[in-house]
Formats: sequence, structure tokens, C-alpha cells
Amino acid sequence: MTFCTTFLFSLVGPTIATVIPRADSITALSASQISAFKPFSYYAATAYCQPATVLNKSCGVNCDANTAFQPIAAGGDGAKIQFWYVGIDPSLKTVIVGHQGTDPSKIAPLLTDGNFFLESLNNTLFPGLNSSIEVHNKFADQHGKTANQILSATRAALQKSNFTLVTLVGHSLGAALALLDSVSMPQFLPGIQFKTIGYGLPRVGNQAFADYVDANVQLNHINNRKDFVPVIPLRTLGFVQPQGEKHIQDDLSWLDCPGNDNPDPRCSAGDVSSVSSGNLSNHDGPYDGVEMGGATCKNVTTTAITAAASTIHAGCGVLFLLATAFSLLHDPLQIL
Ligand SMILES: *[C@@H]1O[C@H](CO)[C@@H](O)[C@H](O)[C@H]1NC(C)=O
Ligand SMILES: *[C@@H]1O[C@H](CO)[C@@H](O)[C@H](O)[C@H]1NC(C)=O
Ligand SMILES: *[C@@H]1O[C@H](CO)[C@@H](O)[C@H](O)[C@H]1NC(C)=O
Ligand SMILES: *[C@@H]1O[C@H](CO)[C@@H](O)[C@H](O)[C@H]1NC(C)=O
Ligand SMILES: *[C@@H]1O[C@H](CO)[C@@H](O)[C@H](O)[C@H]1NC(C)=O
Ligand SMILES: *[C@@H]1O[C@H](CO)[C@@H](O)[C@H](O)[C@H]1NC(C)=O
Repeated sequence: MTFCTTFLFSLVGPTIATVIPRADSITALSASQISAFKPFSYYAATAYCQPATVLNKSCGVNCDANTAFQPIAAGGDGAKIQFWYVGIDPSLKTVIVGHQGTDPSKIAPLLTDGNFFLESLNNTLFPGLNSSIEVHNKFADQHGKTANQILSATRAALQKSNFTLVTLVGHSLGAALALLDSVSMPQFLPGIQFKTIGYGLPRVGNQAFADYVDANVQLNHINNRKDFVPVIPLRTLGFVQPQGEKHIQDDLSWLDCPGNDNPDPRCSAGDVSSVSSGNLSNHDGPYDGVEMGGATCKNVTTTAITAAASTIHAGCGVLFLLATAFSLLHDPLQIL
């Protein structure tokens, strides 16, 4: 560096620094970094499959992809309570907890009338957490329905495997539930490490929640192209995304987007600046070739299960209605 440039920097550098805060840069993931997510993408997709087929590993391509999987427990009805499962993966040396996505029968009224709010966390499930931490009340309700069962199954899986790592996965609402689990479960399982991988994660809580997650949760959340679920509920309603965004580009490369709701046009908040510029078809994937949603599940054909399955399918329509309602009220989104 010549004297002149050094001199200019000393004059201009600090000025620029006060005007434009230095942002961490956006970087591309390598091929091996992308493929490291793949087993977990299949695990997130597995959560859409009927519990009986997860328990006997007959759920189709998603089960076939993770041959080492040892199921411990699974539940939910796919209607009032989302499917979930807990198991062990000896090849990845982790306990796996999977949550299914959107539960329409519970969320439908909320999504159509926009009647939801931020509320403090339940003291029993989140002991000792500051009451300024608030989350979406319906996500919290759904989480509360299975939290205790999942915690006991996770304890059993940890005991059986002797592993010290729990990996939580989910897509859409399932990603929101996985995130709530990853804040709640460490309170009851000291000494255990947790990792969370969400796909198409909506905004779950307020700034205090995002701050808590950023400080305490090892989170990656992967957003596909112009999926707009990651940018709702709106920031103007008080919702904030935690860090850990990986954003899949139109050329299918994956970028690491640092910060909360990074406004760069290569990241979700910048790329999907309004619901009408989003594309809900991108919500289910593909995430490096892995499709979320029940379509990739090999179903058992009983009347009861088929009825539950069609309810799940209706969920996508409901989510779309929500988005439409939002777009009418708030388009263009004021993301920042
Ligand atoms: C797995 O369980 C389902 C549901 O009970 C059953 O229909 C299916 O035949 C079972 N598959 C195998 C391979 O055991
Ligand atoms: C908090 O969670 C516990 C345990 O699941 C439950 O019994 C209780 O009803 C919840 N409290 C509220 C206010 O929702
Ligand atoms: C909770 O958070 C608020 C706002 O950040 C802070 O003022 C307060 O001291 C915190 N309370 C406790 C008990 O940590
Ligand atoms: C379980 O893991 C602990 C350390 O994490 C180790 O000390 C112990 O020997 C292990 N037990 C078995 C039965 O493998
Ligand atoms: C939305 O995404 C789907 C799947 O990639 C694509 O086929 C469709 O053309 C897209 N729609 C728009 C309006 O870009
Ligand atoms: C399996 O059930 C899901 C709903 O859970 C449905 O969306 C999907 O089309 C079904 N898949 C097959 C291959 O029948």
C-alpha cells in the first residue's frame, strides 16, 4: 500500500465505518458443506410420513436414505397433533428428533383471520427464561402438546445410544417446533449438545427470542429460492428471524447469509421483498434434491390415515390463504 492510499484510508476509512456498519460477508457453501445437510433433509422429510411407517422404516425414499436409523418412538395424528418421531443414528452419532410441518386444523382459523400474537414462554417447559422472550402463541400451543412425550423419548434414546448429541429437524411449522424444542430441551438435559436444522422456517418469535436463539442454539435454517414462509409473520408485527440462514439461489448454489433477516438480495429478506414476489411452490423444495411434504412418503392405506393425510394436504392451501391475506394487508412487505 502506498503512502497516499494509506493516508486516504486513514481519512475515509473511519468515516465510511460510521456510516455503513461492516456486515459479515455472504459466502458460498462448498459441495461437501451442502451434502453434509442431506441426511438431515431426508430426516426432516421423514417427519411427514405416518408414524407406523417411520417405526418400521417402510416410509419410502426418506426412510431408505438413512439406513442406520433406529426408531425409538413416534406419534401425532397428522391433524390435531403433527407427526413426530425420535430415533438414533449410529452413523451420524446423534439422536434425531423430527417434527412434521403445518397442522391445518389448528392453524387454519389463525391463518385466515390473522388472529395470532406474541406471548411469553410457558414457565414449565421453558423454566427460568426471561419473560421478555416472546413467541407466536399458536406455535407455542402446538409445541406444548408433544413437548413432554418427545422429551421422554429423547431421554430414552440418549440412554440407549449413550450419545451426547441431539439433532432436531423439521420443515415449515415443523422447523418452528424444532426451534422451540431446541430452546426448551437443554433446560432438562444438561451436558447434552443440541443442533437444529430447519427448512423453510417461518419467523417464530420477537427480537428477544432471536437474541436468545443466537446466543444459545446451534441453528441452521435453509430457505429455498423465493419461498416466502421465511419472511412471515412480518417484522412490522414484531417477529425476527434468528441467525443461521442458508439461502438456496436460483442456480441452486447455497449461500450463508449472516445476521438476522439479512436484507441482501441474495438472502430471503432481500430476495422476497413482498409476498407477491415470492413463490410458494419453492416452499417444499427441492433442498439439494430432497422434497418435503407427504408426497415423498410411502403411505399405508387405511381410511383413518387417508383422512388425516388429506387434512394435511389442505394445510398448504391454508398457508397460501394466509400469505394472500398478508399480501392484501401488507404488500409490499416492510421487512426492515
Ligand atoms: C409397516 O407398518 C405398516 C403399518 O402398520 C404396515 O402396513 C406395513 O406392512 C409394515 N411394513 C413392514 C415392512 O413391516
Ligand atoms: C405449560 O406447560 C405445562 C406442561 O406441558 C402445561 O401443563 C401447562 O398447562 C402449560 N401452561 C400454560 C399456561 O399453557
Ligand atoms: C429480562 O430482560 C429485560 C429486557 O432485556 C431486562 O431488562 C431484565 O433485566 C431481564 N430480567 C432478568 C430477570 O434477567
Ligand atoms: C457412555 O459414555 C460415557 C462418556 O460420555 C462413558 O464414560 C461411558 O463409559 C459410556 N458407557 C457405555 C456403556 O458405553
Ligand atoms: C415458481 O416455482 C416453480 C418451481 O420452481 C416454477 O415452476 C414456477 O415457474 C415458479 N413461478 C414463478 C411465477 O416464477
Ligand atoms: C401420502 O400422504 C400425503 C399426506 O400425508 C399425501 O400428500 C401424499 O400425496 C401421499 N403420497 C402418496 C405417494 O400417496
